[in-house]
Amino acid sequence: MTQFRHGFTGAVVNGAAEWAGFHAQDAQSICVPFAGSGKVVAAMSGSGKTIESWDTQISTRGTIEGIFGANKLRSKMREPKFRKGHMYQTRGIDEIDAASAGLIDYIGAHGTLADKAAIASATARCTSMGRMTTWHADVGELWTKFEKIRRYLLDYIDMPGEFIHHEANVYELPPSGTYDVVQIDPPKVVSTTDIYSAHYQFLNTALGGACQIPEWRRRDVLDRLDQVMSIPAQRILFMYTSDVYPTIDDIRWLLKRHGTIVREDRFLHRTRYDYCILVMKE
Ligand SMILES: C[S@@+](CC[C@H](N)C(=O)[O-])C[C@H]1O[C@@H](n2cnc3c(N)ncnc32)[C@H](O)[C@@H]1O
Repeated sequence: MTQFRHGFTGAVVNGAAEWAGFHAQDAQSICVPFAGSGKVVAAMSGSGKTIESWDTQISTRGTIEGIFGANKLRSKMREPKFRKGHMYQTRGIDEIDAASAGLIDYIGAHGTLADKAAIASATARCTSMGRMTTWHADVGELWTKFEKIRRYLLDYIDMPGEFIHHEANVYELPPSGTYDVVQIDPPKVVSTTDIYSAHYQFLNTALGGACQIPEWRRRDVLDRLDQVMSIPAQRILFMYTSDVYPTIDDIRWLLKRHGTIVREDRFLHRTRYDYCILVMKE
C-alpha cells in the first residue's frame, strides 16, 4: 500500500513516517500521544498490532475512527451545503469567504467523521502553504479538494490492526497501559507558541471538536515532554525539528534521563530538519 499522505500542517515528511514504521515493525502495542494527521499511525499499523492514540483535534478522530478503523467510508455530503456556524461567524482563517466558511460549518454540524477528516485536510490545503493562516481558494476549489480527498481516503479504510483513539488531551486522560513502543511527535514551540493552538482552534470548534487545543509555551515544553517520555514502554520513537524551542540538544539531554539513545536520523523538511531518535528505555 502507498504511504498515507494527508494534508496537515506539521505532518512529518515521508522519510520520518517510514522511519517510525520500520522501528515499530515488531511492536504489538504502540502508544501515540500526539496522532495529528494520522500519517505516522498509518505507517506503524499492521495486523496483530494495537495502536492507542490521542489528539485534541476532531479531525484526527475522523481519520482514525472514520477511516482507518471503519469498515466502510460513510459520508453524508452529496453536494455542497451551507450553515452559518462558528467559522462563518468568526471567519477564523484570514480572508476566508462566507461560502467556504459555511460549507465547513455544515460538515461540522451534519457530516460524518470521514467527512470531517476530509474537510479538515481540504481546508488546510486551501490556505497558503497549508499553514491554516491565509485563505487562498473559493468554495468551488474547497469542494473539489474535499471530494478528491474523500476518494483518496477510500484506500485507507479498514486498515489492519486495532485502533483505540481518544479525542482528548493526553495530560488530562493519561495512558494507563504498558506498551512496546511510545511514538512521540509533539507540537513544536516556534518563537512563542505552537501552531495548533494558534491556528487550528477555529476549525476544530467549527467541526464540533470536544477539546480546547492546549497552548504550548516555552515554559511548558520540558515538563510536558518529560511526562510523555515516562509512559511505560520498552522504547521511545521521538520526532523533533530544528530551529524550535527547546533545542535538539535539550531534547537529547531529556531523552537520556529515560534511556539510551541507540539511533538518530535526520530528514530535510522544507527549510528544517526532522530528527528521529530511537531510545531504549532502562
Ligand atoms: C506535530 S503534530 C503530530 C503529527 C503526527 N505525527 C502526524 O503523523 O501527523 C502534534 C499534534 O499534537 C496535538 N496535541 C497538542 N497538545 C496535545 C495534548 N495535550 N494532547 C493530545 N494531543 C495534543 C495537536 O493537535 C497536533 O495534532
